[in-house]
Amino acid sequence: MVEADAIKTAPIEIKSGAQQEQLVGKQLVTQLYVMLRTSCLYDFDNDSFRSRFAAFRDELHSALKLTDTVEIRSVDGYLFFGDVRLRVDLDGYLAARYLQELFDYLKISGFEFLRGITDDTLLKFFGIMSQYTQRDDKEHREQMRQLLGGDNLPCFSLVPVTTLQSSLEDPKTIKEKKALAKQCFFGAINKVGEIVSHATADRPLPVSKVKRTVQILVDQLLSDETYLMELTALKDFDDYTFAHSVNVSIYAVAVGLRLGMPRPQLAELGFAAIFHDIGKTRISKDLLNKPGKLNSSDWEQMHEHPVHGVKLIGNSMTLDGYSARAMLVAFEHHKNLDGSGYPYIDRTCELNLYSRIVAICDFFDAITSRRRYQSNDVGKETAFSEMMRLSASKFDPLLVKVFLNMIGFYPAGTLLLLDTGELAIVISTNPEHIARPRVRIIANTSGLLDQPFVVELIDHSGEHDFKRNVLRSVSPEKYGIRISDFILAEE
Ligand SMILES: [Fe+2]
Ligand SMILES: [Fe+2]
Repeated sequence: MVEADAIKTAPIEIKSGAQQEQLVGKQLVTQLYVMLRTSCLYDFDNDSFRSRFAAFRDELHSALKLTDTVEIRSVDGYLFFGDVRLRVDLDGYLAARYLQELFDYLKISGFEFLRGITDDTLLKFFGIMSQYTQRDDKEHREQMRQLLGGDNLPCFSLVPVTTLQSSLEDPKTIKEKKALAKQCFFGAINKVGEIVSHATADRPLPVSKVKRTVQILVDQLLSDETYLMELTALKDFDDYTFAHSVNVSIYAVAVGLRLGMPRPQLAELGFAAIFHDIGKTRISKDLLNKPGKLNSSDWEQMHEHPVHGVKLIGNSMTLDGYSARAMLVAFEHHKNLDGSGYPYIDRTCELNLYSRIVAICDFFDAITSRRRYQSNDVGKETAFSEMMRLSASKFDPLLVKVFLNMIGFYPAGTLLLLDTGELAIVISTNPEHIARPRVRIIANTSGLLDQPFVVELIDHSGEHDFKRNVLRSVSPEKYGIRISDFILAEE
């Protein structure tokens, strides 16, 4: 964990409109994080505590000059300052993540500070917050909620959990969005097919078409990522390598989104991700499809695909931001953080952010798609623990956290057995509670349902009880279920 001291904030330069709110919101989130950490570490009469408290209080009062109420809340995995969605960059990620975990722990959407709040109230607030332990302890949580809630702290309140926006959509909109996502996903797969056939036949790559395709993917992900992410769970394609490039691109853009990348950067990232394995078109099909273990000469050839990729891109695209990123990613996506991996180079240099993102997305998609091609069945849980194990030596640990948090405890397409005896397929992660995703119920104890229906596993039946609980994830083969039939079914 990075210590609070490591995060420095510059004084606020007042700008106008949304830009100003964005800046104030980000500064306030950082200062709040620093204070929450500080209150767990220092006594209130300590000099560090006092100076950081003064910095936070000044920040809050500056914000309260703009508006009567300052609200910091988390909705659908994003942090909001009032109505402004904060663009969280890598530096601000720890602060944002800490607040989101705190809100999850307290089962709230966020905090609200009102104009007129006194130092006394703020000190009481941090006094209560110093008891935050991140242990999942129901009694402790209730105690903290009581101390923070009601009228105990004047000019402060807890913001209740906001219903997920998507659950309020009408079925017609859902149907349209699903259809659009499918069109976009399969359109992208066709485009990858085109890239591969052009590359194999040494024809110029259809660069502008791919740019347009990626821009559509980015727009889809920006407007609603649920349905595209769900489609990444489809694994039974005739030629999975096409879907692999599209999946890696979708995952990479979704990670970029969480890092606050602007649209043009997201498009470059998605483009580079689509081309990451283009060098494999220079490897013989027999080797690519070779069943069983590869020998050392096979591996030698396989390890050449990053260099083939760079040559192919360099020879068939004009040099611009897109092609430069694509070459970097093609070259580096099998290089590890500690310098190991391939291609071997005689010196260590820092891997590009885009390559670090693509490496994680590539690994996850490859390892969770192995089942169909290899005899060993690698479940998502295994993929997760493997990624955690490899983070730091192979992957950027912070990006692994962003990725795993995005994919959720049960990724889209996972089949779950519920305590009601029902079988459900995960549709999307619930950022408020990663172990309680949104699912489609497809069977009950009497068998498959004619009309599968969607539920949120976060739904309660009483004050404390949930309507449905996950017993475990199960293998679709065991139940004779083809996940793709349900993902592609019309609503
Ligand atoms: Fe590769
Ligand atoms: Fe790959």
